[in-house]
Amino acid sequence: MRTEGDTWDIVSSVGMTALFVAAARAVESKRPDALVHDQFAELFVAAAGDPELREQSPLGTEFMGLRSKFFDNLFLTAAEDGVRQAVILAAGLDARAYRLNWPQGMVVYEIDQPKVLEFKRQVLADAGATPRAERREVAVDLRENWPAALIEEGFDPTVPTVWSAEGLLPYLPGAAQDALFARIAQLSAPGSRLASDAFDPDVDLTRLAEFQAEQLRDTPFGKIDITSLFYTDDRSDPAEWLTNQGWATTTVAPEELAERYDRPLSAVLEPFAEMFNSIKYLSAVKPS
Ligand SMILES: C[S@@+](CC[C@H](N)C(=O)[O-])C[C@H]1O[C@@H](n2cnc3c(N)ncnc32)[C@H](O)[C@@H]1O
Repeated sequence: MRTEGDTWDIVSSVGMTALFVAAARAVESKRPDALVHDQFAELFVAAAGDPELREQSPLGTEFMGLRSKFFDNLFLTAAEDGVRQAVILAAGLDARAYRLNWPQGMVVYEIDQPKVLEFKRQVLADAGATPRAERREVAVDLRENWPAALIEEGFDPTVPTVWSAEGLLPYLPGAAQDALFARIAQLSAPGSRLASDAFDPDVDLTRLAEFQAEQLRDTPFGKIDITSLFYTDDRSDPAEWLTNQGWATTTVAPEELAERYDRPLSAVLEPFAEMFNSIKYLSAVKPS
């Protein structure tokens, strides 16, 4: 259950979901046909101290690779096209600042709750990892006035930005999600781009709970019902909203990404395919 202004660390509430997806990336990274190589994911999982979490991630093998690659491509393409400012909203244990091949002059802002960023900083410092871009932490709640905190850290709204909101939207109340996109639009110079993932409004979330109960019951991933952390109140459709603001938007479902990256959804996910395909990956560009 969520409450106004609730907080968490990496092993509680919404914070734990960051650990779950890191565990999934750790598994993905070990596949011979890995779509992403996140050598830091395993370190986070180990540091969190649950040995079971290290061994298995039924979430990971089919699904997280697609998602990670989609967002990796967003950043790499933007950097190739000359964008030098990135904002990772709800960064969690996203290690892109450390693992992507960023160009000279790249500044990467990471926004998340203070204890999540603290855990991440500690683990990476202990591992002697160094970022491959200039990395700036912004410890703020995304239901609050996060643009002020971002600007305080040096964010420049006059140059194009690449934004990601990966695995975030269901954890925000409708009003905070709507404000998120309005603020992004306001802070985005022409040529900015953004990617996000969201469930269709008519998604049957009981299927997600059933997936967890059936497939993840005996694993650490079964410890909390993820859907109990979601807000399900009304909100605008981000793709529609951004289109109305003049952004060029496209959305794809996981099955299209699976085809694009030549990674078919496995048999385990098959009975839940409809639910998984109700997640839409949005990319949008603000015209120059
Ligand atoms: C499922 S994790 C995704 C993390 C990361 N984007 C990734 O894909 O690896 C959700 C993240 O959203 C963050 N989050 C959710 N609601 C937030 C809020 N109101 N303010 C700041 N961070 C938030 C959590 O702390 C957590 O790190």
